[in-house]
Amino acid sequence: MRKTPELIVALDVGDLASAAALVDRLYPAVTLFKVGLQLFTAEGPRAVEAVQQRGGRVFLDLKLHDIPNTVAGAVCEAARLGVVMCTLHASGGRSMLQAAAQAVAGGGSSMQLLAVTVLTSLDARGLEEALGSPLDVAAQVVRMASLAREAGVDGVVASPHEIGLLRAALGPLARLVIPGIRPAWVAAGDQRRVMTPREAAVAGADYLVIGRPITAAADPVKATDRILDELRAVA
Ligand code: C5P
Repeated sequence: MRKTPELIVALDVGDLASAAALVDRLYPAVTLFKVGLQLFTAEGPRAVEAVQQRGGRVFLDLKLHDIPNTVAGAVCEAARLGVVMCTLHASGGRSMLQAAAQAVAGGGSSMQLLAVTVLTSLDARGLEEALGSPLDVAAQVVRMASLAREAGVDGVVASPHEIGLLRAALGPLARLVIPGIRPAWVAAGDQRRVMTPREAAVAGADYLVIGRPITAAADPVKATDRILDELRAVA
């Protein structure tokens, strides 16, 4: 039987009251919530605590990228907040990734570290412009994901179209966290290379990150139920 990916709802709102209202409506159908740059910048650790106080677990998506000592310090603080997942950029390099992984292990935390490889907003031209030399995006994604894995990072955040490639490169134990999900019944909006929840589950995702199809729906509870039904039907 296929393992159903877990749904993570992205709380991409700018204030605590809106985030708390979403958690109140969606928990316990959803138990894992993403606190990202907008909400954390606005509200800080209070946003994490608000989710936890309501019974939810937190995926802290700050996409850390700095010198090893600084990232290790931030990762320690994330673990202290009790978040279950935290993101960092693989492009920070081996020593940064290792310092982060060691900080988690040294603190005795079970928090998972997830690496961002190439931002999905970058295409081949954007990547070349940023880095100064032509690069194959897929090869670069695999290269960075493999580096992160070697450094002790638990998994990667990736586009649904990279699932097969990454599973082959990283093996069955790597955690694949997949945004860019659009149910067939909503418009794709600004997400370009999307998959439906069902397609991403069949491809082998471990977690699906979904924001606006739920948070901007006329009825977020109904939208969540539809997505969860679609995922259960894949099992
Ligand atoms: O609203 P939507 O479902 O598009 O939200 C997707 C979420 O996933 C956003 O919080 C966004 O920051 C995140 N994301 C990501 N990496 C991508 C694309 C989206 O972390 N490549």
